[in-house]
Formats: sequence, structure tokens, C-alpha cells
Amino acid sequence: MKKNVVILGSTGSIGKQALEVIGWHRGSLRVFGLAAYRNIELLEEQVRAFDVPYAAVGEEAAAKVLQERLKDVRTTCLVGEAGLLELVRHPEADLVLVAVSGTAGLRPTLEAISQRKPVALANKETLVAGGSLVMKAALANGVPVIPVDSEHSAIHQCLNNENRNDVAKLIITGSGGPFREASFEELQKVTPEAALRHPTWQMGTKITIDSATLMNKGLEVIEARWLFEVDYDRIEVIIHPQSIVHSLVAYKDGAVLAQLGWPDMRVPIQYALFYPERRSNNLKQLDLASVRSLTFEKPDLKRFPCLRLAYEAGKIGGTMPAVMNAANEIAVFSFLKGEIPFMSISAVIAECMELHIPQTGEPDLDGILAADRWSREQAKKVIKDRHGG
Ligand SMILES: NC(=O)c1ccc[n+]([C@@H]2O[C@H](COP(=O)([O-])OP(=O)(O)OC[C@H]3O[C@@H](n4cnc5c(N)ncnc54)[C@H](OP(=O)(O)O)[C@@H]3O)[C@@H](O)[C@H]2O)c1
Repeated sequence: MKKNVVILGSTGSIGKQALEVIGWHRGSLRVFGLAAYRNIELLEEQVRAFDVPYAAVGEEAAAKVLQERLKDVRTTCLVGEAGLLELVRHPEADLVLVAVSGTAGLRPTLEAISQRKPVALANKETLVAGGSLVMKAALANGVPVIPVDSEHSAIHQCLNNENRNDVAKLIITGSGGPFREASFEELQKVTPEAALRHPTWQMGTKITIDSATLMNKGLEVIEARWLFEVDYDRIEVIIHPQSIVHSLVAYKDGAVLAQLGWPDMRVPIQYALFYPERRSNNLKQLDLASVRSLTFEKPDLKRFPCLRLAYEAGKIGGTMPAVMNAANEIAVFSFLKGEIPFMSISAVIAECMELHIPQTGEPDLDGILAADRWSREQAKKVIKDRHGG
């Protein structure tokens, strides 16, 4: 029996690579549904290439165009968030890969879990904003949430068959981004073009900027806290420019397990699509002699305050991570539009966090979404009033 896979965000960097992986394993995996926001051209191509029964897009007008273009095939076109929810709850869907960007992933992830569908989760913002809600629902429904992020996939592999009580700490690696060695003065002059040039990974624009500010590591720390139930004091970030060691787990006896490989997202994507099986592929095998040296250094929280802000938001908990995440999204897109300087991204987030009175404890979905909306409005106001946007 083939596994029916639904991909939310199929036209993005992760979505396209997931389809490539599925293309290698057509005997075992079938693309059952695809969702994008507005890239109808690519979505149509993907639907035709994989003979996909369901496709969803962000808006009504786009859905009409897509339906018209696909009238010679029997694909059903769905629209908006309701379309995403219909896709993931379809009784024939076996696995949902959540690879949309931003908080748009939260509701579909919860819906998939409530329908007892295993989730392969690339969208880290879902766990940052609603980690407690998602993991509680997963536990209650007995549904696995399999990480796609390379660092969390590495930790997932290093935890396999080990006793969770024996874990001393999680060590998340990061390349340090394109400005690892930049001075404070240089960071103030960073342009969007320079920030979009990542040294080791090819990714969507939002995550590429997050990698340059180190917010990506911050989001990953919060993601790890929820996926693996380890508190923030036992989650460490280490800069590793070669991106060969994808992350590590230190155990109480002093042993440290790591997962290594060339930086290629198709490896963790394939792992998540087949978990707990491993499958062969033709990807380049790691050759340590050609790598020669692996280096590690501590992150500099003064030059990269976003990482510090993420730890702070995570430790405060409640609605604060959702506020930090939403303010970051607004600030990143404002930077990309040339409205604010690179170093203002962290300043905007910090201001929104200061202004927020967090709902503590475990907020419900409405509470999280309200905090997310509040923060977006606040960030726009802060940008307009104080950062020249
Ligand atoms: N790229 C990586 O290597 C990587 C690694 C680890 C984790 N992640 C995480 O994976 C997620 C996706 O990253 P990415 O780099 O693949 O992003 P991306 O290239 O920007 O792609 C985003 C995808 O989501 C779709 N989308 C956005 N909003 C949507 C909505 N409201 N409804 C339906 N579809 C929507 C986009 O559709 P359109 O194309 O039509 O706009 C596109 O298909 C992010 O959360 C990121 O942090 C990415």
C-alpha cells in the first residue's frame, strides 16, 4: 500500500525538495494533496507531474484560475485556510507535511493531529507560537510529530531508543549565517541582497533572513523545547560554520551523540516521510577526509540579539513566543522591503515584547492567535513610529 502524502507549501523550498524525494520513491509514496499560496504556475506543473487529486491555493480568484487550467484532469481545487483544513482531514490522507512559512501552519497542524494523521513538521513557527497546544494534542491523539528541520531531525535520531531521563542537554548547531564574522558597524549596513546569500543552505526568504539574524536558532531552541520536552537551561546553541554536524545530544554519563551529513534538506525530509524506516537514495555520501576540519564557537548574543530574545520569550512562555514570532515576521518583511535596517529587526521585536503583557500558563488557540494579531499590528506601529518604515 502506498502512503498518501499531503504537502502544505509545495511550491516552497522544502515543498519542492519533498516532491523530489517522493519522485525517487513513487512505488511507496503517492502525492495526495498539494497546497500553495499564490504560485499557480508551479502548482499546476506539480499537480500534472504527480497526478494529484487535490490542490489548494490561498485565494478564491487563484483557485478559479487553477480549476480552469486543470479542467482536463480530475483535480479538485480548494481555497484558503478552509481548503488546507479539508485537505489534511481527508480520510485518505496518511501523512501531512507542513512546509508553509509562518504561523499559517498552526491550524492545519492541529487539525491533522485531531484527525490522527502523523505530521512531518518543517514549519517551526507552529511550535514557537503553539508548542504546548500542538504537543498536548499529539500526545492525547497518539500522533507522532516528526521533525523535518535538520537540527531537530538530528536530535530525533540521537534520541532513538535512549532513555529521555538520561539526557543532560541538547546541542543545536548553526552555521552562524553570512555575517558570522561581521563587526557591529558592518551589521548596521547589511542589505537584503547580502542577507539573502546564505553560506551553506538554499532556503525560502524568511528563514534565510532568520538565519542571518540568528533568530532561526532562537526559533529552533523553542521548537526543541516542545518537541523533546527539555527545559531551556538544557538547550545550547553552538556555531558550526561547516554545517556537517546537524546537532547533538549529551547524556548524563558524558557520552555525546551527534548526527552528521552533507547539508542537504532532502535527507531529513526523506527521514520524516519514511520514519521509522530508512531508505537508500543517490545523495552524496559524507566524506570526512574531504571535510578535514570541523570547528565550533559560541554564538555572540551582543551582535545577534535575536537569539537572546528567543530564549527570553521561551522562558517567559504563555503568549510571549507567539508575540516574538509575529513581530519577527513583520520586521523581516519590512527589512526585505528596504523599510528598516538589519539591526532594527531585533529592536522591533524587543519593543513588541516589552509592550506585551503575556497571558501566562497555557494559552488556547484563540489566545495564541489574538497575541499573534496584536503583535503584527504593534510591530507595524513601532516600525512606522520609531524606525522610519
Ligand atoms: N527551507 C529550508 O531549508 C527549511 C529548513 C528547515 C525548516 N524550514 C521551515 O519550513 C517552512 C517553509 O520554509 P521554506 O523555506 O520552504 O519557505 P518558502 O520557500 O518561502 O515556501 C513557503 C511555502 O508556503 C506556501 N504558503 C505560504 N503561506 C501560505 C498559506 N497561507 N497557505 C498555503 N500556502 C502558503 C508558499 O506558497 P507560494 O509559493 O504560492 O507563496 C510556499 O509554497 C518554514 O517554516 C521554515 O522555517 C525550512
